Amino acid sequence: MHHPVVIIGGGPSGLLLAQLLHKRGIESLVLERKTKAHVLGRIRAGVLEQGLVALLEEAGCAARLHREGFVHDGTCIAYGDEMFRLDFTEHTGTPVIVYGQTEVTRDLYEAREAAGGPIAFEVEDVVIHGAETDSPHVTYTKHGESHRVSCDFIAGCDGFHGVSRQTIPLSVRREYEKVYPFGWLGVLSETPPVYPELIYANSPRGFALCSMRNDHLSRYYIQCSLSDAPGDWSDAAFWQELKRRLPADIAGRLVTGPSIEKSIAPLRSFVTEPMRWGRLFLCGDAAHIVPPTGAKGLNTAASDVHYLYTGLRAFYESGSEAGLEAYSEKALARVWKAERFSWWFSSLLHRYPDQSAFDLKMQIAELEFLRANTAAQRAMAENYVGLPY
Ligand code: APR
Ligand code: PHB
Repeated sequence: MHHPVVIIGGGPSGLLLAQLLHKRGIESLVLERKTKAHVLGRIRAGVLEQGLVALLEEAGCAARLHREGFVHDGTCIAYGDEMFRLDFTEHTGTPVIVYGQTEVTRDLYEAREAAGGPIAFEVEDVVIHGAETDSPHVTYTKHGESHRVSCDFIAGCDGFHGVSRQTIPLSVRREYEKVYPFGWLGVLSETPPVYPELIYANSPRGFALCSMRNDHLSRYYIQCSLSDAPGDWSDAAFWQELKRRLPADIAGRLVTGPSIEKSIAPLRSFVTEPMRWGRLFLCGDAAHIVPPTGAKGLNTAASDVHYLYTGLRAFYESGSEAGLEAYSEKALARVWKAERFSWWFSSLLHRYPDQSAFDLKMQIAELEFLRANTAAQRAMAENYVGLPY
């Protein structure tokens, strides 16, 4: 069997790339190790940059997003009982759209199925062969049957725990990592959002975030210990702690209810270089991870997909390899800016075990400066809504 492009990973990166290529008549095969239900069961952040929205529009997958997504012109930042609003549209002319990334993935699956795009679920033992040659192929098994697919290119969209990054020899790869000394305990509840926009809170007890999925589905997070397990936190304990981390007037209006999902995510910054090895191209979480503070995970995967899609289009439409040659350098330039913003925003809002009294003073001074300084607000807004591709 031959496919022009084999895409390993049926998450948002792989599906978006497959759908964009399809729209240009470039067919691909997506290999996904889980079931579709498993992939769609992942609860993920819900803030979309305009660049990602534009790609979804080009992919023909943005109708529901525009119907059901919330346009947010700004966000709020709280510290102690103080809270200020940062207006993205005032500073950049651009809002963000709040729409669950799980819904993005659902819309992409719907589009791939409508187009008859081949997706093999529950594959195992995916192995990339000959990535450094002009005739790579991929082998995998499914239900005990072996398969071999020759291709022109392989897109490694298989996330942090996938096989693609591991295919690049250690002698070639350079990896950069920062592990944060805390996690995020997240709760989904069928309750109205406490506030019409997101609230990022720095409190003496730790970070908290008030987000949403729609008018009657809220998403909340509190910074927690890495030794915590979701079962350690009753709903009542979660709500009480969340309230203690929010300004009193916000806490007073919080509508609580039973959690319909409760999970803990560790925080990590990670980048692997290069993002290309021969005919293998890494996209999204396969190449980089950010702490969720700046909601840059899918939004940075989107710019990877944009660069790779553009390079593949040029190759198939005009024989030019320039875009593919430039892919890794171009993608990494934006990846590192997203890593910086995510690290900076995390450093601003979380309480670190080893923080000194001086460090705490610096955090508050930074928050006060951000509150008062237009240039600082513009810089943050430009990063939050998404730097140009
Ligand atoms: N073979 C096939 N599929 C694999 C393999 C493998 N060996 N390893 C992993 N996968 C699949 C996973 O099951 C998953 O569905 O690859 C997919 C990777 O998807 P994500 O981990 O969501 O990564 P990505 O598509 O890059 O999404 C990036 O989107 O949801 C947001 O914030 C989230 O940062 C994340 C971003
Ligand atoms: C979410 O809604 O899950 C969310 C929003 C913004 C973030 C992180 C997570 O920065």
